[in-house]
Amino acid sequence: MKRVFSGIQPSGELHLGNLLGALINWERLQDDHDAVYCVVDLHALTLPQAPEVLRQNTINLAQLLMAVGIDPERSILFVQSHVPQHPQLAWLMECTVSYGELSRMTAFKDKSNRDSTKFVSAGLFTYPALQAADILLYDTDVVPVGDDQRQHIEITRDIAERFNSRFGDTFVVPEHRIPPAGARVMDLQHPDRKMSKSEGESPGTIWVLEDEKKIEKKFKRAVTDSDGEVRFDIESKPGVSNLLSILGAATGKSPEALAESYTQYGPLKGDTAEAVIELLRPIQARFAELQADPAETERLLKMGADKAEAIAADVLARAKNNIGLLG
Ligand code: AMP
Ligand code: TRP
Repeated sequence: MKRVFSGIQPSGELHLGNLLGALINWERLQDDHDAVYCVVDLHALTLPQAPEVLRQNTINLAQLLMAVGIDPERSILFVQSHVPQHPQLAWLMECTVSYGELSRMTAFKDKSNRDSTKFVSAGLFTYPALQAADILLYDTDVVPVGDDQRQHIEITRDIAERFNSRFGDTFVVPEHRIPPAGARVMDLQHPDRKMSKSEGESPGTIWVLEDEKKIEKKFKRAVTDSDGEVRFDIESKPGVSNLLSILGAATGKSPEALAESYTQYGPLKGDTAEAVIELLRPIQARFAELQADPAETERLLKMGADKAEAIAADVLARAKNNIGLLG
């Protein structure tokens, strides 16, 4: 069976973009892949975090992943900092990727230039080396992510290929898997920007744990355009196309085909809100159950870390040996 690996940061709440761009696929891929999923708490440290908040976010995110359907008995679900091979391999990655390559990462440029980023850590810059370690430690074939992670998967492939050619066959070179619909969910108020974990009031972001009334209201107020025609055309109709993509991702249909069934914006907004609410309802209910027993979640995460470490230790030993470190 092919192996799939992906990770998500425990920073802030989960939004609809995370769910449609990444997590729904994680859930599906469990059926025919050997799946390894990770809450990447070490990545979250690249931006300042309050310790108690980080701890709580890490548990909550693990519970949300289980609520979405990640099954810790069938797949491996763990927290990155529980498996010491991640930062260990990351050092080898840092020494085999160049400063120039890291300087070209758009995620670094975006995050380091934000007004809210007052402290630009060295970790924010070397972050893709840690991400490459995450992926390569599991001999990963497929990495399901949203469109914004494309560049990070490309650099992982480059690092793996370079390492293999310098030091002999060591790593599996992974491929990314970007979903056909929902890979880039846009902000409902600013359809030119991707939906993100922005702070404060968020009229354009739908939260996975948000209540139904608020979701309806946000979709009703979603920005469209004034020509009144329902068509899937991201360039000239970003707002309407975003609604069609969301409806498509939530129902498994293609946005182009869905466009044919609507002549007005009102019903499209109403149906999209309803499809999203239907999708979120069971996730919210399951999350509430899991939240009642954090000790059980911690037990499952420790079990996941043991299974993960068993794989990661072998791959790290292979990499250390091939690069010339004493065994
Ligand atoms: P992050 O929230 O940056 O930790 O991202 C977690 C996962 O969600 C990654 O696979 C991202 O590519 C994906 N993701 C984040 N924002 C969006 C979005 N607006 N649309 C689609 N996928 C997204
Ligand atoms: N960089 C990813 C993000 O911000 C999170 C991540 C860390 C990841 N390690 C990973 C994703 C490994 C896929 C595979 O969303």
